[in-house]
Amino acid sequence: MQNKTTPQRPDKADLTTLAFASQAVHGGNVMDTTTGAIRTPLVMANSYRLPDDPSTMDWSDPDGLTYTRNAGHNQVCLERKLAAMEHAEEAAVFATGVGALHAIFFTLLKSGDHVVVGDVTYEAVWRLFAELLPERYGIEASFVDMGDLEAVRRAMRPNTRLVHTETIANPTTKVVDIAAVAKIAHAGSALLSIDATFTPPPMFRALEHGADFVVHSLTKYINGHGDAMGGAVIGRKEQIRAIKHAALVDLGATISPFNAWLIMRGSVTLPLRLPRHMSSARKVAAYLDSDPRVAFVAFPGLPSHPQHELAARQFGGTYFGAVMAFAVDGSPDVQNRFVDNLRVITSAVSLGHDETLIVHVGAEGRGGSEHYPAPFQKYGHLRLSVGLEEPEDLIADIAAALDATFA
Ligand SMILES: Cc1ncc(COP(=O)(O)O)c(C=O)c1O
Repeated sequence: MQNKTTPQRPDKADLTTLAFASQAVHGGNVMDTTTGAIRTPLVMANSYRLPDDPSTMDWSDPDGLTYTRNAGHNQVCLERKLAAMEHAEEAAVFATGVGALHAIFFTLLKSGDHVVVGDVTYEAVWRLFAELLPERYGIEASFVDMGDLEAVRRAMRPNTRLVHTETIANPTTKVVDIAAVAKIAHAGSALLSIDATFTPPPMFRALEHGADFVVHSLTKYINGHGDAMGGAVIGRKEQIRAIKHAALVDLGATISPFNAWLIMRGSVTLPLRLPRHMSSARKVAAYLDSDPRVAFVAFPGLPSHPQHELAARQFGGTYFGAVMAFAVDGSPDVQNRFVDNLRVITSAVSLGHDETLIVHVGAEGRGGSEHYPAPFQKYGHLRLSVGLEEPEDLIADIAAALDATFA
């Protein structure tokens, strides 16, 4: 017997026919039939009323509204919106971006499987594939330079089940040719999952370039306000259903209704925020690149970036993300002094927030840092996520901090 589902919007157009900005406003929104409230209300209940005869119900159905670990009203509304924004069949939301990444790995992989992973990758993913999954679960991983397609091809084995990479790698900003990697993965009968946290839609839709799964840390650009954690896996209906079953129903990596509601609200302005983040990032990167007190800048929008042409082709030529890595010319103490001298830019981890964030990462001790380019290994780096402030204020802040540091 079917249990209840979140009602469809009864009165509006098919979301797939709407442009991105309209999807961001209307996607997943469900009017409240009790009060007539026009925005989806926050439903904190952890249980939903059962049908008259629940005796044969599937308690573990991730499609119906029964129990909030499996599915809740605010989760389902957010999933609908994200699926529409990615032009995908289905989305699953999780408590964090790492929860979403692990949901794919946990669902797809078993002992004896092999995974090809980008050699520069978000640190938690590095740890999962370098330590936890091989040591505890017998899953093998090869870390490969995703810019070297021949190396990716060579790394494939008969038991390679998954290829996983980031569109723009955190933290080096290496850009990956997703369509080319998809061809290699599929030729080896493997699936391709892409962490697109640095490149949310409409900038890039990895599924349209051959990926099987796209992952976002919703904590970052999609929420955009630095006040909620969340993650999403987006892809084909049957596969996402399997992921929900394993990682929500059986593992419990469920997002809270409040965070889903906040992310739903934050994402309304994504189409307005993203171009602003990215055009400001180009200005800030150009400034950093022009200052001799800056030792290096890694940003795909700079012509000097090794994959600048690929980035221009793949992302449409105008936008290159809004995260960069750089270092001022000096020791770790000098990097810390520079950060301490900033007055507008905030020293904090995370990225994609409304405010500009900077974090000083040392040259050693990070998973996979031996694969970072030479300047990263020499100086460490400052990861900068350009926010929504006036870019001239950010440049002035950086210039004043450089003056104070090198006075
Ligand atoms: C590329 C990337 N993927 C995944 C994550 C993890 O997301 P969360 O912090 O929401 O778990 C991060 C966090 O910084 C990230 O930068």
